[in-house]
Amino acid sequence: MRQDPHSYADDTQPRTCAWDLQLTVDMAARRLTGQVTLTLDGAQGGPLDLDTRALAVERVEDAQGNAIPWVLDPADAILGARLRLTLPKGCDHVTLHYATSPDATALQWLEPQQTAGGQHPFLFSQCQAIHARSMVPCQDTPGIRVSYRAALTVPAGLTAVMAAASVGHGAGTPAGTTTFRFEMPQPIPSYLLALAVGDLASQDLGPRCRVWAEPKVLPAAAREFSDVERMVTAAEGLLGPYLWDRFDMLVMPPSFPYGGMENPRLTFLTPTLLAGDKSLVNVVVHELSHSWTGNLVTNASLEHFWLNEGFTVYAERRLQELLEGPQGAALHAAIGLAGLREDMERLGRDGPLTRLRTQLQGTDPDEVYSQVPYEKGFLFLTRLEAAVGRPAWDVFLRAYIETFRFQSITTDTFVAFLRKTLPQAAAAVDLDTWIHGTGLPKDAPLPHSARLDELVALCAAWRNGTRPPVDTLKAFSPTDWQVVLARLEHLPVAECAFLETTFDLGHSGNMEVRVGYLTLAVRAGHAAALPQVDHTLRTVGRMKYLRPLYTALKATPEGLTAARATFEKAKAGYHPVARAVMEGVLR
Ligand code: BES
Ligand code: ZN
Repeated sequence: MRQDPHSYADDTQPRTCAWDLQLTVDMAARRLTGQVTLTLDGAQGGPLDLDTRALAVERVEDAQGNAIPWVLDPADAILGARLRLTLPKGCDHVTLHYATSPDATALQWLEPQQTAGGQHPFLFSQCQAIHARSMVPCQDTPGIRVSYRAALTVPAGLTAVMAAASVGHGAGTPAGTTTFRFEMPQPIPSYLLALAVGDLASQDLGPRCRVWAEPKVLPAAAREFSDVERMVTAAEGLLGPYLWDRFDMLVMPPSFPYGGMENPRLTFLTPTLLAGDKSLVNVVVHELSHSWTGNLVTNASLEHFWLNEGFTVYAERRLQELLEGPQGAALHAAIGLAGLREDMERLGRDGPLTRLRTQLQGTDPDEVYSQVPYEKGFLFLTRLEAAVGRPAWDVFLRAYIETFRFQSITTDTFVAFLRKTLPQAAAAVDLDTWIHGTGLPKDAPLPHSARLDELVALCAAWRNGTRPPVDTLKAFSPTDWQVVLARLEHLPVAECAFLETTFDLGHSGNMEVRVGYLTLAVRAGHAAALPQVDHTLRTVGRMKYLRPLYTALKATPEGLTAARATFEKAKAGYHPVARAVMEGVLR
C-alpha cells in the first residue's frame, strides 16, 4: 500500500536502504548524467515502484548486469512519473542509468553573472519537499531512510560539496574534470539529499563547524556565523548529543528560495542572512535544531510536517532564550505570531490548511507552504510545556528524540508517546482541537515580555496618529523594527516617507526589516519606494520576501501591471519552485 500521498513507494515492496550515486555534472547542458545503484532490504522479487520527475531512464540492470524490465508511466502533475521495475527473485541491487532534465525541479543552474564572483557557473539542489525524484529515481518519501555514497564529476576548477562526509577528490574522467567523493553513513530521508557545485572556499569556525561560500563572500560569512560552535553546544544541552559529526554551512547565491535548509552536515543558507550584525542568526539556530527535530525524528509524510517545523521553531526559540535571553525570544515569537495570523487570513481562518495534521492528497506541497506548521506547532508545544512545567517537559523532549531518532513518525505516534510518558500534559490540553482543529485555539500561549509590551503600545499609538519620537526609533534593534513593521500592517504614505528619509529602511542591510518596510510602503501607495521594490524583487530569490512584495503590489491594477513587468524581468533568475509559486501569486 502507498503510505505517503506524495510518493509511489509501496510498503508491500522492498525498501531501499542505500544508494550509490555516480553522476557527472554538465554545466553547459544543465544535466546530471550517470547512475544510481539502489540496495534493497529484501530479495523477494516482484514490482518496485520508484518516484521520478522528468528523468531520462536509459537502462536498468541487476548486480550481474542483466537487464531488468521497467515501465515509466505518464507523469502526474504533482507526483511526477511512476517508474515500475519488475525484479527477478533474489535481486536486491538495481542499477539505473539515467540523466536529469535541464528543468529538473530540484536543481538550479546559475550563469556566472548570477554569482558573487561573476566568473564561474553554479549549481545547487533543493530537494525538500518532493524534488529529490527529479535528481535520482528513488522511493521519494520521508518514511524511508537511506545511507549513501556518491561520486560527483565536475569541470576542473569547480568544487563540489554535498550534505555528507567528504572522502576525497581527484582527477576525473574525461580529462579536465575532478571527481569528488562523499559518504553519508547516517540514514537520511530522500529530501535531505543535497549538493552544490561552484567556485567555493571554506573557513573553519571551530572543531565541528566550517562555513563554505564563494571566496568573495567568505569573510563576511565567517564573521556573521562565528558563534555557531557555541550554538551546537547549547543545542546539545537541550536536545541531546549531536549525531551528525559536523555542522558545516554553505552560503548560497541570492536566488536560493529559502532562508535555510537543514541538509545534514551542511546547512544551506540564503546570503540575505549576512546583515553584518548577526541579527538574523536565528535562521542558523533553526536549521541547527533540525539536526534533532526533522533529521533525527522525521515526519513520515508532509501531512505531519508540523512535527518537523513546529518542534524546530520550538527548539529555535528555546535556544535563542539561552543565547540571547527571554526578551529576544519573546520578540521572535511575536514576529512569528504576526506571520501566522497573516497566513491564516490568506488560507481562510477555518480553512483545512490551518490544521496541524493536514490532508494533502492531490495537493502540491510547494503551493501550500505556510507558517501554520511552524508557528501553530510552536504554540502547541509551548502550551504543552506550560501544562506540565519546563523541567518535566524537557525530560519528555529528550526522551522523544532519543526514542524516535533515525525514525519517521506520524502525529499519532507523537500523541501516543505523549499520552504514555506525559499523561498530565495530554489530560490538561485539548489535543484534538490543537491537532485537528482549524484556526488558533483559545488557549494559545501568546508571547509576553516587557519590551514587547512597549512595542505593542508604541504601535497602537502610531496607528492612532502619534508618531514615536525619533530618538526612540533610533534606539531600535533590527528585531524591534521587525516586530513593529509586522504589527503595523498599514501606515500612511507620510509615515512611510518619514521612515525612508530618517532611517532609510528600504536599504536596510537586514532583509527582514527592508522587506517589512517595503511591504508597508507598497500597501500605502508610496511611489518613491517602488524602484527599491523592483530592485529587491530582481536581486533576491527567497520566497519569504517575494511573496509579500508581489502580494502587496497586486492589490491595485497599476501595481499588478508593475508586478508582472518586474516578474518578467526577474523570473529567469528565480529558482524553478520560486518561479512557479510566484506565477501562482500573480495569476
Ligand atoms: N526545511 C525548511 C525549508 C523548507 C521547507 C524547504 C519546506 C522546502 C519545503 C527550513 O528549515 C525552514 O524552515 N526555513 C525557514 C527558516 C525560518 C523558519 C527560521 C525559511 O526558509 O524561512
Ligand atoms: Zn525548518
